[in-house]
Amino acid sequence: MNRTVLGVLVSGRGSNLHAIFDAIQAERLKAKIGVVISDNPDAQALKRMAGFGITTVVIERKKFANRCDFEKAVAAELSLHHVELVVLAGFMRVLGTEFIKLFSGRIMNIHPALLPAFPGLDAQAQAIDYGVKVSGCTVHFVDEGVDTGPIILQEAVPVHDNDNEQTLADRILHVEHVVYPRAIGLYCEGRLRVQGRRVVITEK
Ligand code: GRF
Repeated sequence: MNRTVLGVLVSGRGSNLHAIFDAIQAERLKAKIGVVISDNPDAQALKRMAGFGITTVVIERKKFANRCDFEKAVAAELSLHHVELVVLAGFMRVLGTEFIKLFSGRIMNIHPALLPAFPGLDAQAQAIDYGVKVSGCTVHFVDEGVDTGPIILQEAVPVHDNDNEQTLADRILHVEHVVYPRAIGLYCEGRLRVQGRRVVITEK
């Protein structure tokens, strides 16, 4: 079976990228990382992949006159590496219409809350401030909104009375590292069918 080629977009720490890499190494995920693209030259994510034989590329937004040109450069790099599925893993930019059209139905994101609750930045702090008793993470396809695309998988974690933003973020991150490779695996196995807002997971 041909392995689905992933293009992973990162901006920072890269723990989800690492979890995806580990899942591939362990043969739990039958995919291949074609390229890792960072918009931040100092991203820890890039250092994590050093020595693993993964191609990493830095494409900085400030080097381009506008967002469209920046995204064209990202798209060109993804195409160069024959990327089928674009995986956003802590990529801190909202993608524009043209890019989303180009990779329509082939862009995934992970968000550290149970969407549609707490979209956007600081989702864990939003959950603490609101006082919810349960939060979690969501893997979804990307559409033109912010964290609004069809939901693929969600996993809940409890929110304890003594939690702060960091303790909750740590608990959520732990499940992110399991759920993201699982969602990508479902895509690679051709088991995700988008029906309007719903993503149906077909049997093996
Ligand atoms: C994660 O919490 C993810 O849900 C959010 O950004 C964070 C990225 O963390 N989109 P990392 O860079 O994968 O460690």
